[in-house]
Amino acid sequence: MSLSECKMIDLPKVSNQQGNLTFIEGGNHIPFDIKRVYYLYDVPGGAARGGHAHKKLHQLIIAISGSFDITLDDGQGQKTFHLNRSYNGLYICPMIWRELNNFSTGSVCMVLASSVYREDDYHRDYAEFLESCRSGE
Ligand code: TYD
Repeated sequence: MSLSECKMIDLPKVSNQQGNLTFIEGGNHIPFDIKRVYYLYDVPGGAARGGHAHKKLHQLIIAISGSFDITLDDGQGQKTFHLNRSYNGLYICPMIWRELNNFSTGSVCMVLASSVYREDDYHRDYAEFLESCRSGE
């Protein structure tokens, strides 16, 4: 899997004078079925999250509130995305190392994931991740 498959997705937005509404249907607006939702909040200033890759997991990351940066790395190159809209999501395919930082005060990072939590789906060691990219495992 490569960085070129990771992209910002424009989500549907229904707006009127009473505010905005965004919805996400698994397999329709995003290329996987949603099995889990989790969110990061109360992230202290200067903190970094992530620092791992997933072997099989697909994810969509949304800045539900506030803003933060996500740097993606497929072992060949890196790309940084700035997330600051609740109607945009960053799709991340499997085998992408990610770092999240520059969280604004009060920001909320929501993640939609294609599977339930499994620690054995993680690469938490960067050298091991690179080796796995090279061997195509
Ligand atoms: P981790 O994915 O490393 O968080 P981040 O990428 O935001 O830094 O998870 C942090 C801890 O939370 C780790 O001990 C595993 C646990 N965890 C769960 O139990 N279930 C989950 O769905 C997630 C995402 C994490």
